[in-house]
Amino acid sequence: MKKKVLVTGGAGFIGSNFCNINQNKFDIVALDNLFLGDKENLDPSITFVKGDACQREDLTRCGDEFDAVLHLAGTSSAPMFNDDGFVNGYVNSIKSFVQVLEFARKSGAKKFLYASTSSLYGNNPMPLIETQVVNPPNHYAVTKICYEHCAECYYRVYPEMDITGFRFMSVYGPNEEAKGQFANMISQFIWDMVRDLPPVIYGTGEQFRDFTNVRDVVQGITLALESEKKWGNKVYNIGTGKSSSFNDILQEINTALGKSIEPIYIKNPVKEGYVKGQHADITRISRDLGYIPKITLKAGIYEQTQNINRNKIRETSSDYLR
Ligand SMILES: NC(=O)c1ccc[n+]([C@@H]2O[C@H](COP(=O)([O-])OP(=O)(O)OC[C@H]3O[C@@H](n4cnc5c(N)ncnc54)[C@H](O)[C@@H]3O)[C@@H](O)[C@H]2O)c1
Repeated sequence: MKKKVLVTGGAGFIGSNFCNINQNKFDIVALDNLFLGDKENLDPSITFVKGDACQREDLTRCGDEFDAVLHLAGTSSAPMFNDDGFVNGYVNSIKSFVQVLEFARKSGAKKFLYASTSSLYGNNPMPLIETQVVNPPNHYAVTKICYEHCAECYYRVYPEMDITGFRFMSVYGPNEEAKGQFANMISQFIWDMVRDLPPVIYGTGEQFRDFTNVRDVVQGITLALESEKKWGNKVYNIGTGKSSSFNDILQEINTALGKSIEPIYIKNPVKEGYVKGQHADITRISRDLGYIPKITLKAGIYEQTQNINRNKIRETSSDYLR
C-alpha cells in the first residue's frame, strides 16, 4: 500500500517538485496557504488543501493517519525577515513548525521530515559538514536552528516518531516563479537574461554556492521517506559536494541561451553575514541513504532555460537595482 504523506508548503518551489515527481509513489495531500506558492505548480491530480500550517483546524482538514509528514511551509528566505517581515517571519516559521510536528505525531506518523537550511553554516570553513558548530548569521537561519533544537528535544520525549531535518544547499529548478525576488540566483539570472536584461551581481561575482537541482533535493527527501531503518533524530546536508561562482553561472546561462550578456556589478549592499562561499560535505546522506546527486549544473541550467513560461516571470531583485 502507498504511504500517505502530508506535504506542507506543497504548492511552493520544492514542495510542488516533490509532489509532482512522487505523485504515483505516495498518496499525497499538499497543504499551502499560497503566501508564495502557486496552485498551478501542482499537477491537477494531487489533492490540494488551501490552509495555514499554523492552524490546527487547517491541518485537521488535510485528514489523518499519515505515515509521514514533510514540513516545507514557513518563511523561506533571509530577506523576508527584513523590516515589517521580522515578527511575522518568526511567528509563521516557529508556529507552523511546532504545530505540524505535534499534528504529525498525533496523526500516527512514523516520520517527520522538515526543511532546515545550509544558511545556518554562515561562513564556516568548507566543506560544510553536519558536525560543525554553527552560528546562524541571520534571523532566517535562527528559525532553522530552532527547528533542529526543538526536533532533538521532541524526539527525546516521543521517540516513536523518527525526525529528519535537511540542510538544503542552494536549490534551483522549475516552479520558482512565485518566489520572484526571493528565488535562487540561477532562476533570477535566467528570468533577466531571457528578457535581454543584465543581471545585477553583488561584488565581483566570485562568491560561490553549491547549486543543487531540485530533482536531487527530491531524491534525498524521497530516500529518507522510503527508508525502513529506524534512525531517530537526524540532520542531513543535501547538496552536490561541488560549487560554482556567480560568474560561472552567468557564463553557463549565456551558453544555454546563445547570448553574451554582461552583468552589472555593484558594491555588495549586505553589510553583515553575507555568505562568501558554500559547498557541502554530502558523506552522511550518501552513506546512510545512498544519495548521489545526478543533475549536472550544465544540464540543470539548460533544462530550465528551455522551459521558461514568460507570462509567469515576476520582478527579480535586479529589477529593483538596475
Ligand atoms: N530553496 C532553497 O534554496 C532552500 C534552501 C534551504 C532551505 N529551504 C527551505 O525549504 C523550504 C521550502 O522552500 P522553497 O524554496 O520551496 O520556498 P517556497 O517559499 O517556495 O515554499 C514555501 C511554501 O510554504 C507556503 N507557506 C508559507 N507559510 C505557510 C503557512 N503558514 N501555511 C501553509 N503554507 C505556508 C508558501 O506559500 C510556499 O508555497 C522552506 O522551509 C525553506 O526555508 C529552501
